[in-house]
Amino acid sequence: MTIVIDRKHEHFVGEVSGIDCRQAVTKEDGQLLNEALDQFGVLIFRKQAFTDLEQITFSKIFGEIELAKGGNVTKDKDRRLDVQMADVSNLDKDGNLLGRSDRRRMFNLGNRLWHSDSSYRVIPAKCSLLSCRSVASSGGDTEFAFMPAAYDALDQDTKMEIEELVTEHSLLYSRGQLGFTEFEDEERKAFAPVRQRLVRTNEFTGRKSIFLSSHIGSIIGWEIPEARDLIRELMEHATSQPFVYRHSWSVGDLVVWDNRQCMHRVRRFDDASEPRDMRRTTIAGTAKTVPQSN
Ligand SMILES: [Fe+2]
Repeated sequence: MTIVIDRKHEHFVGEVSGIDCRQAVTKEDGQLLNEALDQFGVLIFRKQAFTDLEQITFSKIFGEIELAKGGNVTKDKDRRLDVQMADVSNLDKDGNLLGRSDRRRMFNLGNRLWHSDSSYRVIPAKCSLLSCRSVASSGGDTEFAFMPAAYDALDQDTKMEIEELVTEHSLLYSRGQLGFTEFEDEERKAFAPVRQRLVRTNEFTGRKSIFLSSHIGSIIGWEIPEARDLIRELMEHATSQPFVYRHSWSVGDLVVWDNRQCMHRVRRFDDASEPRDMRRTTIAGTAKTVPQSN
């Protein structure tokens, strides 16, 4: 089979055909898909009915798996999935819906804010692979926004202003936006802010992008209101319609996105009433974007 990639959006998103991701992938095809990810930012694969192990094996063509620890408030004993998988469902370990006021559900609602996965880690994630195992009857689309195109569209003064800026990212900030502020001491420690460059350059394409996320709460050297005002304005710009693709899920879809170049968010659905089983593998990044203060 020959891999074919069809562009689905003016700026980004490729739909990949001619590959069964459950079979062994050749080195050449692995390289092709990595380059396609750099170029397209989002890759869509259809009809990939994975087992968890098959998903984990395929994911490794993009790099090393980032363990799903430290990124949520679910205790280890309550995990439904292997630690190599992030549980993006609304289910508990017995497969039951999380209750409407369940603390884990409240925390997971943060996925409805625009973000880049694991930008709150010292080394932010390279990419994420999300496999759709079941869908809700309506809603629950995922939107993606392409940051290189958003960067290119900035005026020259803004590009110069943000070039060297360093931001602080934390789950405390993103959840705080939804009014989720009651964290245990352990969680506050685990979610301590980390530093990230605001402008990143893709090594393969050479394109610059704005490294935005709802996890951002401050800019080093700036007063908080001024920092948040700039970030809010950049977020509005970067998530405006020309830079956004919306994906409506079918069972068997696999979507891979580059967290270095894209933001994403899930749209509202009735998650307290209907199961939606989505399983994510995350590929770790390889370097910090800036030195850390601690
Ligand atoms: Fe996410």
